[in-house]
Amino acid sequence: MKKVRVFAPASIANMGCGFDVIGLALDEVGDILEITMSEGDGLTITNQSGVPLPEDIEQNVITPVVRAFLKKIGQKAQIDVTVCEKIYPGSGIGSSAASSAAAAFGMNELYGCPLSEEEVVMCAMEGENLASGGYHADNAAPAVMGGIVLIRGYEPLDIIQLPVPGNFYCAVVHPHIVVATKEAREILPKAVPMHDAVRQWGNVGGLIAGLYSGNIGLVGRAMQDHVAEPYRKSFIPGFDDLRAKVLGAGALAMNISGSGPSVFALCDHRTSAEAAGFLMKKHFDSLGIGSEVYVVKVSNKGAKLTGITI
Ligand code: HSE
Repeated sequence: MKKVRVFAPASIANMGCGFDVIGLALDEVGDILEITMSEGDGLTITNQSGVPLPEDIEQNVITPVVRAFLKKIGQKAQIDVTVCEKIYPGSGIGSSAASSAAAAFGMNELYGCPLSEEEVVMCAMEGENLASGGYHADNAAPAVMGGIVLIRGYEPLDIIQLPVPGNFYCAVVHPHIVVATKEAREILPKAVPMHDAVRQWGNVGGLIAGLYSGNIGLVGRAMQDHVAEPYRKSFIPGFDDLRAKVLGAGALAMNISGSGPSVFALCDHRTSAEAAGFLMKKHFDSLGIGSEVYVVKVSNKGAKLTGITI
């Protein structure tokens, strides 16, 4: 028998312009799993997190991740997973990716790291597919690898870690509105008009250039989304007004976090992130919508081992 305890962080997908190709990891907040491997052939998942999760393990994102890992390495085992700490599902900070990344990373650690980091991300993407109906890695890759990542290509997977300049903080507000990732993906058109595509790739290039040169003004103005946001912002009451207020208060950018309904402001220090968080909460309060706010530093760290028992 062997047991590991692993942590994988929360994350924010898209960073505005990078639909399905850019994501960042957040500090401190995340999921903790304990995974035990013993002789046999089976899987159990016990939830001790206090956060409601599906009872049917076929509906839990951890299940396809564990199965994909074992299939990839051609092994069978009895795997028992305990969910110790969990980001609330639907909070918009990569809850399903944190579990998926922790499961994939933990399985790899249990077996002595037979898979590369990219292969670990591929296993984690199986959980994302169950949760959202799509193989996207813009939460799973930062949750495994940390920092800000670019998925340059999916076939084959080509992930590039980008520099994280200075003290980047995110204020994330989770309004109590339900937007399922599946639904938020299904409403998107299948084709993007050339005019919007041109603006989008200009922004993606600008964002990458801004990160490499440490030009945070460029980072902020490049975080504009002409592909998904026009369709998704109708889920978020008063989105444009809120953005005007948050940018007026000094945030570098404000965008939908992943597929929403959470919204995040990127700021270059904690104080302005706290001010943005306060404004975002006040906005939803004024509309009679409850919300939670997290002010979290962008992290260079991804999934990590926090304990091992042999
Ligand atoms: N890139 C994905 C989307 C992230 O925007 O649908 C889901 O959190």
